[in-house]
Amino acid sequence: MQEKIKKLLREAIKKAFSREVKDIKIEYPVEEIYGDYASSIAMHLAKDLAKNPHEIAETIIKNLKETKFLKKIEIAGPGFINFYLSEKTLNDEIKTILKEKDDYGSGKIGKNKNIIIDFSQPNIAKPLGVHHLLSTVIGQSLYNIYQFLGYECIGINHIGDWGTQFGKLTYAYKKWGDYIIIEKDPINELLKLYIRFHEKAEKDPSLEEEARKEFKKLENGDKENLCLWKWFCDISMKEIQKTYDYLGNIHFDYIQGESFYNDKMEKILEKGKKEKVFKKGEKGSWIVKFENDKYPPFLVQKSDGTTLYSTRDLAAVNYREKTWNPDKILYVVDVAQSLHFKQLFKTNEMLNLTDAELVHVVFGRMQFKEKKMSTRKGNIILLDEVLKEAVKKAEKIILEKNPDISGKNKIAHKVGVGAVKYIILSQNRTTNITFDWEKMLSLEGNSAPYLQYSYARAKSILRKSKEKPSNQKISEDKKKTEEKIRSLISLFPKFQEYTLISAEEYKPNILANYMYELAQSFNSFYNSVSVLRARDVDLKYRLQIVEAFSIILKNGLTLLGVEVLEEM
Ligand code: ARG
Repeated sequence: MQEKIKKLLREAIKKAFSREVKDIKIEYPVEEIYGDYASSIAMHLAKDLAKNPHEIAETIIKNLKETKFLKKIEIAGPGFINFYLSEKTLNDEIKTILKEKDDYGSGKIGKNKNIIIDFSQPNIAKPLGVHHLLSTVIGQSLYNIYQFLGYECIGINHIGDWGTQFGKLTYAYKKWGDYIIIEKDPINELLKLYIRFHEKAEKDPSLEEEARKEFKKLENGDKENLCLWKWFCDISMKEIQKTYDYLGNIHFDYIQGESFYNDKMEKILEKGKKEKVFKKGEKGSWIVKFENDKYPPFLVQKSDGTTLYSTRDLAAVNYREKTWNPDKILYVVDVAQSLHFKQLFKTNEMLNLTDAELVHVVFGRMQFKEKKMSTRKGNIILLDEVLKEAVKKAEKIILEKNPDISGKNKIAHKVGVGAVKYIILSQNRTTNITFDWEKMLSLEGNSAPYLQYSYARAKSILRKSKEKPSNQKISEDKKKTEEKIRSLISLFPKFQEYTLISAEEYKPNILANYMYELAQSFNSFYNSVSVLRARDVDLKYRLQIVEAFSIILKNGLTLLGVEVLEEM
C-alpha cells in the first residue's frame, strides 16, 4: 500500500508541477482518525514551489490517478494528506493472507541480490558472552527477514579461533593443563587456564613473551601447537553448539572462523604494502594511516610478523567478495568494536577490496534490571544459566494458567527461550538493552508470551468453530463492532511494510513492535466482538479475520525466531 501511495503521489506531483520527487515519505498517523497513511510532501514542496502547502495538497489530490483502493483522501492541518483505505481493499487483503499463508508478506525485493550476515562469532575457549547472544539473536532475525524478502542470504559464523589468546592458552595448557579434566568440562576448564595465565602474567610479564612465542609457532605451522589448537576448537565448538541447539532455529551457512583466513592474509599484506596503503610503523610493524588522522592507525601486522584480528577481517572481505560478490555485508557486532569497523571499512575503500555495502549492525550493552543475574566473572555471564532460568520461570507461569496442559516441558522451553529472544529483539539495538525478568515473561505486556498467548487464543477460536455452532447468538453494538474490526484489519497490510523497514534499518524491533500493536488490537477486538456467537452472516467473516491475524502473527514471530504454540 505504502509503495502504491508513493507511486501515485510521485505521478501526481510530476503531472501537476513537473517535479520529480524521489524520496517521498509515507507515515503512519498515530491516531486512526487521521487515516491509515499520511504524507507531508505538500509541506516539503511549499518552499520550492512558493505556494502554500494546503493549496499544493489540493492540487496533488486532484491529480491523483487511480484512487479506487482508497475510501477517502483528506487534507489535515497545514497540508498533511491523509489516506483511508477502502473496506474492499482491506477485505481483499484478508483474502490474500488466507491464500498465501506462510508466504504472506514475503517479497521479491531481494531478487538477484545477496547479503552476507556475519553474526554470533563466539570466541573459542571462552563461554558465550552476552554480546554473543545478542549478536546471535539479532543476526539470525535479520537473516530470516532478508531471506523472507527474497534475498539470498549467506550466514557466516566468524568465530574467534585464532589470535594471541591461543598462544596464552597453549602456554598455560603445557604448563598446568590436564587432558582428562578439560575433556569433562571444556569451556570452563579452558577458561580457568586462561584466567590463571593472566593472573600469573600480571606478576611475571615474561609470560606474555612466552605466549607470543607459542602463537608464532602456531602461525608457522608447528605440529604440536596446531594439534592442541584443533583440540581446543573442537571441544569448545561442541559446547557452543549445545547452546545454539537450546536456543533453536539458529542456522549458519558457513562456519568460517578467523583461522580460515590463515592462508589468505599474505596476499592482502602484499597488496597493501605494494599499494602503499600499509605503511611502516614502529619496529617493523605495518599500519594503515587515515586522512587527517580521522581514526587512530589500524595495525595490520605486528613487529614479529604475526597477524591480527584486523588482518583476518581484511582477508575475509576479500574472500567474501571473490566468492559471493555480495551486495551487502552485515557485521552484527557489539558497540565496543565501532572503531575497528570504521577502520576496516575505510581500509577496504583504500584497497578497493569490495564495492559491497559494508554495515556495522551495532548493538548496545545488555543491562540487567536485577543485579543478581548480572555477572560471575568479569563481563562473562553464563548464558546457559539465563536460558534455563527463563524456561523454569516460564513453566511456572504456564502451570498457573493451565495446570492440565500436555507437553508442558516443550511449551515451557518455547516460551522461555522465546521470551529471551523477544526481549532482545523488541528493543532498539542501538541503545542499551534492558533485561527484565518480569517484563520478559509477562502475559500482558510487550513480550513473547503475550504474543504466543494471543496466537494460541486465535487458534483456539478457530478450533472451536469447527465444533457444534453455538445457538446462543449475541446482540451487539454495531458501531463499536465495526470500529474494532476496522482497527484490526487496517493493520494487516502494514505487516510487509514494517518487515521492509526492519530490513532497511536492520532493526527487528520495528517488526516486533508492530506485532505487539497487532496483538493488542486483536485482543481488544476479541474482548468486545463476539466471534463464535456472532450471527451466521457475520461468523464466517470474523473467523477469516481471526485466521488472517494468526497467519500474520505466526509469520512475524517466525522472523524473530520465536516459535508459536497452538495451545498455551
Ligand atoms: N569474535 C569477535 C568477538 O567476540 C567478534 C567477531 C566479529 N566479526 C568480525 N568479522 N570481526 O569480539
